[in-house]
Amino acid sequence: MNPADPALTMTDRYAVIGHPIAHSKSPAIHAAFAAQTAQDMTYEALLAPLDGFVETVARFREQGGRGLNVTVPFKEEAWRLTDRLSERARLAGAVNTLVVDGHGFSGDNTDGAGLVRDLEFLGCHPAGARVMLLGAGGAARGVVLPLLEAGAARLFIANRTPDRARALQAHFAGHDARGVLRAGGWEDAASTPCDIVINATSASLSDEAPPLPAGLYAPDSLAYDMVYGRGLTAFLAQARAQGAARVADGLGMLVEQAAEAFALWRGVRPDTAPVRAQLRAATPSLA
Ligand code: ATR
Repeated sequence: MNPADPALTMTDRYAVIGHPIAHSKSPAIHAAFAAQTAQDMTYEALLAPLDGFVETVARFREQGGRGLNVTVPFKEEAWRLTDRLSERARLAGAVNTLVVDGHGFSGDNTDGAGLVRDLEFLGCHPAGARVMLLGAGGAARGVVLPLLEAGAARLFIANRTPDRARALQAHFAGHDARGVLRAGGWEDAASTPCDIVINATSASLSDEAPPLPAGLYAPDSLAYDMVYGRGLTAFLAQARAQGAARVADGLGMLVEQAAEAFALWRGVRPDTAPVRAQLRAATPSLA
């Protein structure tokens, strides 16, 4: 072994790829993880043209890249690109983490695990909880399996278009051995109070809230909006008015899904608490 061999001394490269990408917090998060765990690596933001995702990924790999996080709008394209998918990524229909291996890439999706870890961090364990998931698009689909596997006592998928919620229920039926998955529209959602209500619709992006019926929130319940950086969203404000005991945004999920990806790449799990605190201090408050 020659210690001067550049292949042995080269710093490992990682990146987040998206369009746009300049706003991404991932480089700061992974730089903090790398410093904390003393990993010799770099992590950059990679802007891919809307019609140039595959080429940009291939170039990154040729240049020695070891792994990528994938964000909007390329998660589905990354899923199609990858033939070695984890089960959770296969079912999510989206890939947010690519790991370079001998032949190409393997693909995973750490979003749902990130959500579950964040809920646990917040002291709201999905195990045994009655969970309501609002939305039936990509964001919702990405978290269903991890919520089921975490042991939710009931998981109701509610959506503006009820048929899309039912389609999602059918998609995950093979993984619902305990028969806890239900689906329907907003009005079907109120039959039993919930311990955790998760907003995975894109309504918060236009400052709207799904028109949820009263009676949804159990005492001690948590309302969770998967978006972050927007302060108290219309959904979270509505949740407070309807009796949710606590509210949370998706900032913790962002950090936790990054930690999951970091662990996949490096085999080391970072302590997320200091990074969460650092980001929280720079983010609009939920007060
Ligand atoms: P994403 O990948 O962010 O999930 P998507 O696949 O376009 O995006 O899905 C958006 C989700 O937000 C859908 O569940 C959508 O409801 P429909 O299936 O009925 O379209 C939901 N959504 C978007 N705007 C909404 C609004 N103003 N009120 C309630 N639900 C909304």
